[in-house]
Amino acid sequence: MIFSCTYQKKVVLLHSQKFYIINMAQTQEETFKKIVAHCKEYGFVFPSSEIYDGLGAVYDYGQNGVELKNNIKRYWWDSMTLLHENIVGIDAAIFMHPTTWKASGHVDAFNDPLIDNRDSKKRYRADVLIEDQIAKYDEKIAKEVEKARKRFGESFDEEMFKSTNERVKEHIAKREALHERFAKAMNDNNLEELKQIILDEEIVCPISGTRNWTDVRQFNLMFSTEMGSTADGAMKIYLRPETAQGIFVNFLNVQKTGRMKIPFGIAQIGKAFRNEIVARQFIFRMREFEQMEMQFFVRPGEELKWFEHWKQFRLKWHKALGLGDEKYRFHDHDKLAHYANAATDIEFLMPFGFKEVEGIHSRTNFDLSSHAKYSGKKIEYFDPELNQSYTPYVIETSIGVDRMFLSVMCSAYEEQALEGGDTRVVLHLPAVLAPVKACIMPLVKKDGLPEKAREIMNELKFDFKVAYDEKDSIGKRYRRQDAVGTPFCITVDHDTEKDGCVTVRYRDTMTQDRVKIEDLHEIIRKATDPKELYRKIVGDSFEDTNE
Ligand code: GAP
Repeated sequence: MIFSCTYQKKVVLLHSQKFYIINMAQTQEETFKKIVAHCKEYGFVFPSSEIYDGLGAVYDYGQNGVELKNNIKRYWWDSMTLLHENIVGIDAAIFMHPTTWKASGHVDAFNDPLIDNRDSKKRYRADVLIEDQIAKYDEKIAKEVEKARKRFGESFDEEMFKSTNERVKEHIAKREALHERFAKAMNDNNLEELKQIILDEEIVCPISGTRNWTDVRQFNLMFSTEMGSTADGAMKIYLRPETAQGIFVNFLNVQKTGRMKIPFGIAQIGKAFRNEIVARQFIFRMREFEQMEMQFFVRPGEELKWFEHWKQFRLKWHKALGLGDEKYRFHDHDKLAHYANAATDIEFLMPFGFKEVEGIHSRTNFDLSSHAKYSGKKIEYFDPELNQSYTPYVIETSIGVDRMFLSVMCSAYEEQALEGGDTRVVLHLPAVLAPVKACIMPLVKKDGLPEKAREIMNELKFDFKVAYDEKDSIGKRYRRQDAVGTPFCITVDHDTEKDGCVTVRYRDTMTQDRVKIEDLHEIIRKATDPKELYRKIVGDSFEDTNE
């Protein structure tokens, strides 16, 4: 149901440096299925324990996936800890004292509203069903706007069209009414109203197609296990549902040992676990996933200024990758979590619509105060400038590694038709994130070319993840590298020994250059060095988070 609209893809034909554009139509559902299949076929993502038919919403990263994932993590980590002298990292344990989750509210307050379909016996999150319905209205509006844009061309005024076209006005009105009703029901924790919305909107179960729904009930998403033997009296503990609490309970440790002055931040990357009910859309919603979170501790009263700062900084971080500025938008929350006084999501346009990739929350002093209360410890900061102690307020930026991975894959994947009826699948991965930066290939497997190619590879491998390939025709080897997103293919031929040059072939344009071997390092460095992205984020006049 989510994939109903047709996706027009521009396909580029390359012939003697000329591009021919043809149109191929495929649904977003088809595109997404192909991306999932591609991830498996090329060693990016595998279903977990696949030989036993897999485990629901749990995935393993393969040889290329882990490189891409590590590059995403490195890009995030360095953008936090290198670009900001007042942000440091930690790596807290997954297991935490169970009282942590009492204090955080996860034991009592973090429950999801669930509803079952009596015919399919499938369980859904009621809020997700309604959000999907809102997304359907958004899709209808976007479709009308696109149609009109094509019809009116340059002179098209989107705002004017939306405020005058009767059909669009009707969709917008329905969408707004539903949105308002939904936000109120969520804020009031009104489970009966959530069910009534599902019935009124005539939302059907995607499996059975019926509206035979049960009442909405609350459900806790935390996984639990036991620590210690039962003879000792085992303790029930939880697998952390977010990494943030590991930062809060270490606030005093880091502040004191690092002599940190407010404002300052603590960053962390690590696994989190949620017993998600609606496990779907591949690695978008998993039961075991990874988060990159940063808690920024500020003076009370200054939190909304910092909230705005981090919103803008994080958006720049995303956009610097060049996946397309138009694919991002903010979605401000109507329903705030019990700890927050402002919250927004950074959404990315996936093949199944705009979806949350990152959350930015102004968490007030809820977490530190609550841990102080439950632990009996004083968790405060003495501000020498104000000559007073207080419980700091917190701005949190929280991004899922796996969702980031999915957004990169979805925007990178392209099918191209080439001259002579040939096709290629190419991943236009940002070079900084590409699992393999260059593949070195001897033109033929003889005449000393493999030895020369290995010599070049052995020089480059100290700085870059490079590959070597001598099997099959050069064309087939190019295709293999295109499919995993390798930005450069470097071919050693019979002239290499004489002129000290190799042919560099570029993934996106498929054009080729003859370059000196000693220039290779700089060519690859320039394209893959994250420094270039950091400059884009902070610009020349970087206003630091130190004040
Ligand atoms: N500490 C705040 C927090 O955990 P959240 O909005 O629940 O906030 C933050 O999660 C991010 O973690 C999301 O924006 C998303 O990228 C990622 N995430 C959350 N649940 C996930 C899941 N089940 N599978 C994959 N990623 C998930």
